[in-house]
Amino acid sequence: MQSKIVKIDLGERSYDIAIGSGLLSLVGDYLPFDISAKKVFLITDDNVEPYALDLRSKLQEAGVGFCEILTLPHGEKTKSYDSLRRAHDWMLENNIDRSSIVFAVGGGVIGDLAGFSASTILRGVPFVQIPTTILSQVDSSVGGKTGINTSYGKNLVGSFFQPEAVITDIDTLKTLPKREVLAGYAEVVKYGLIDDLAFFEWLEENGSAVIDLEEEAILYALETSCRAKARVVEADEREGGKRALLNLGHTFGHALEAAAGYDGSLLHGEGVSIGSVMAFDLSVQMGLCTQEDADRVRKHFESVGLPVDASAISTNVDYLIDSMGRDKKVLNNKMTFILARAIGEAFITQDVDEAMVRSVLEQSLSGGC
Ligand code: NAD
Ligand code: GLY
Repeated sequence: MQSKIVKIDLGERSYDIAIGSGLLSLVGDYLPFDISAKKVFLITDDNVEPYALDLRSKLQEAGVGFCEILTLPHGEKTKSYDSLRRAHDWMLENNIDRSSIVFAVGGGVIGDLAGFSASTILRGVPFVQIPTTILSQVDSSVGGKTGINTSYGKNLVGSFFQPEAVITDIDTLKTLPKREVLAGYAEVVKYGLIDDLAFFEWLEENGSAVIDLEEEAILYALETSCRAKARVVEADEREGGKRALLNLGHTFGHALEAAAGYDGSLLHGEGVSIGSVMAFDLSVQMGLCTQEDADRVRKHFESVGLPVDASAISTNVDYLIDSMGRDKKVLNNKMTFILARAIGEAFITQDVDEAMVRSVLEQSLSGGC
């Protein structure tokens, strides 16, 4: 099967995203360097380790002499200072050098942690993303954001560090739990909501085929999402402006994730689903967007089985407002929101009335629409 290639054009930091079936067996073909001469450091988690073991066999067959695997526990709690230290110590014990290469084999947690470890060890060792969740294939593996969480909030310590390549093998999705498939799908929908009404309409028609991982549908959804992300990252690599659009639903979503305690009870993508519905509800309250569009967004997330309100999360409005105030998107003491004039017409603003934000949060916590 032919793979799709999406280019990320960032001058000397440019790279390709390869998307297709069977790519894990052909990784060497998609790398912009000869892997056989490299020391390879594979970072993965305990759920995805079999893919890392397969990859190691293939790399050894391709002539790689040194290829070690660090397997971390799965879950958001792995994006921590402890795991970062563990990864650094493991790399140093194994005499990593600047000609080595780090591979992240896993979802967004491993991609963010491995990428940040690579960016900070020896002041930067190149890395490759092998994303294995839909979320990581359409979002976290692309664009170079890496990092860890702190007790003050998510992703507050990190770096912009672009990978050398992203290799997306859709076969890995066959073992992904359905709930994780859905959570990743929320980030796919996000690209339609931001600036592509036609893609949102396509998802309304074909979302269930994407979720069922039908090959043509999943490939189209992944490629369209990666192209959308490429456009934004190429225009604003370090989030000076436009890149913040990718945070649609995230200001609310991150606060909900913090309230849920990163214990797996609310997945990142589930927070994005609820947060996107809140962003449209706030847009309606502010007279920016029609109720019809907000209803349509809620209905689509609901129809595929994603959560659309925060009623299952035990928290309160003050906690959420406080948490949103600590988000990276706070500038000059003002929270940044991504709101919408319509589906496919999102924009960035700090001009938001806190009373309306409180009202949207209260409504969502009480399960109302
Ligand atoms: P994840 O990495 O925790 O993966 C979800 C779960 O699926 C884990 O239990 C993992 O072990 C398991 N898994 C992964 N691939 C699998 C497979 N193929 N088969 C079976 N199980 C598999 O979570 P995620 O949803 O991929 O990523 C969420 C993280 O990504 C969050 O930390 C979020 O902050 C981050 N993120 C980062 C960016 C960025 O730009 N860097 C963007 C979006 C999200
Ligand atoms: N996921 C948001 C970004 O990459 O900017």
